[in-house]
Amino acid sequence: MPQLSSQHLKGHRELRLAHLALSFITMGFVWQEGEEETVKLLPRNLAVPYWEISQMLGLPPILVHADFVLANWKKKNLNGNLDTIFSLPGGESLRGFILVTCLVEKAAAPGLKVQYNSYNLQRHRQSRQEVTDYVDPAIFYAVIRIFLSGWKDNPAMPGGLIYEGVSDEPMSYSGGSAAQSTVLHAFDELLTIHHSKESTAFLHRMRDYMPPHHRAFIEEIQSAPSLKQHILSSGNEKLRIAYNQCVSVLADLRTYHIAIVTKFIVIAAANAKAKKGKPSHWAGNFQINPPSSLQERGTGGSGILSFLKSVRDTTRAGIIQG
Ligand code: ALA
Repeated sequence: MPQLSSQHLKGHRELRLAHLALSFITMGFVWQEGEEETVKLLPRNLAVPYWEISQMLGLPPILVHADFVLANWKKKNLNGNLDTIFSLPGGESLRGFILVTCLVEKAAAPGLKVQYNSYNLQRHRQSRQEVTDYVDPAIFYAVIRIFLSGWKDNPAMPGGLIYEGVSDEPMSYSGGSAAQSTVLHAFDELLTIHHSKESTAFLHRMRDYMPPHHRAFIEEIQSAPSLKQHILSSGNEKLRIAYNQCVSVLADLRTYHIAIVTKFIVIAAANAKAKKGKPSHWAGNFQINPPSSLQERGTGGSGILSFLKSVRDTTRAGIIQG
């Protein structure tokens, strides 16, 4: 592969497409043999343009939610049916996972315009249910997850990754995570939800994995006058009820996320263990074993259920008592 120059890329869209392409190639390259004998060095042909483009975009040189979901869709036909642009092993389940997550982002958009009511999050709930229709938990667990994982907080790559031609020192970056989705951070800030110290530290670190203008948007909501404070000082009962409805559906969404993770990771892990020794999954023309390093942790590096339960409980605690 020739070392391509990033100089010829014009404008934000081309840079985002280049980051998306290089992210997929990098994840495929790093995890192609599974979690054993993982590569320690990203060759310069890939590392140098990837680094330059990441610098220009203010993104880290790893696959992020803004690549995998936000930039990775196109219209398949005039009806507006969606398709992914790039894929990794996992076939239809990977396609389903990417596109359903994309629809969840779309469902959240009206909420960001602060036409904020529980109806929008109810629509969100309908989108979520499609995950179970389109993604096979066994394929998700055994084939898809490893390609989203990173080289930080991951026992499979404790030493990080050397980006050849960029630095001789290895660098560590977290894998993709829904915690990199701007919308949930925006809702948390809008509703003044306070998470635990540990969860807040992880969530705030994930903001560095968002496009800078997304991060700025969240910070702007954070620094705006507090909606919750206004409701508290107004003493208006209708406002309090409406606010509590928003907090409740956000907590419900997080409860639903726990149920999905239980099905797609916890139960899938138990099933994979029960099948140990029997043939594992084939992805394309190569065989993949479920990564043991991802049994307890999400691809972003957080403790799976402890993190999700903690943020769900702190969301619920945001309710204003009457
Ligand atoms: N963060 C998700 C996982 O851990 C994709 O599987």
